[in-house]
Amino acid sequence: MLVSAKEMLNKAKAGHYAVGQFNINNLEWTKAILLTAQECNSPVILGVSEGAGKYMCGYKTIVGMVNGMIEELGITVPVALHLDHGSYEGAMKCIKAGFSSVMFDGSHYPIEENIAKTTELVKLTNELGLSLEAEVGAIGGEEDGVVGTGECADPNECKMIADLGVTMLAAGIGNIHGKYPANWAGLSFETLAAVSEKTGDMPLVLHGGTGIPADMIKKAISLGVSKINVNTECQLAFQEATRKYIEAGKDLEGKGFDPRKLLAPGFEAIKATVKEKMELFGSVGMA
Ligand code: 13P
Repeated sequence: MLVSAKEMLNKAKAGHYAVGQFNINNLEWTKAILLTAQECNSPVILGVSEGAGKYMCGYKTIVGMVNGMIEELGITVPVALHLDHGSYEGAMKCIKAGFSSVMFDGSHYPIEENIAKTTELVKLTNELGLSLEAEVGAIGGEEDGVVGTGECADPNECKMIADLGVTMLAAGIGNIHGKYPANWAGLSFETLAAVSEKTGDMPLVLHGGTGIPADMIKKAISLGVSKINVNTECQLAFQEATRKYIEAGKDLEGKGFDPRKLLAPGFEAIKATVKEKMELFGSVGMA
């Protein structure tokens, strides 16, 4: 059964570790992440962007697939199914379809409008027992055509949004989606510390988990980050393993063309990446 992300994140915040959000793209992705979470006895959040939602035929299809897998793979660790960077309309659709968690990304709106829309969603998600992530200060890079510049959030605005009663808060601290450029200035721990001080017990979310060095991840967790989003890194691991398989000509040997064989190295590579992240984030054994 899907659960809200509230309890797992409050526990992570209190226990000084972070729960990984791993974005899904298809059946192989979802199965790899769920099996790894179970093997690591770790809570997990499956992230779905609106673009990935469309790709997978819509939110109802995803809910059906994830619920079916949880039952038929015997997954007993806490799993939240979460809309990533949702619009207001997207959040409403996911709530209807049976997601257990949604993000409303109002960071591109003026703060008053972000507050107004987030307030409505706090009320609705509370009534339904779902978790809600809000965002202040756009995350840099490009995701599904939404481009941000990697701002640092205003800690006072973070407090205003946190006080609305959201479950978790994403604050821009110089993080970027996708690969980090060679001249990246690194995370702004000054901003993170200020946001943390203003928002108290609120679990903070670090987007753009791909390529952030391990020491920065650990420092971010020590400053109150309890949820870390990883997407591109699983894609790169899948791509590299699949490329190796084809370049080695394995698809031409025997039944190597069978998708169950062709996609297996990429599947294993996602599993290895997720395991590595769960170990780094400290969520292993915390289910
Ligand atoms: P990366 O693709 O950089 O790992 O970012 C993922 C993310 O933050 C999803 O919201």
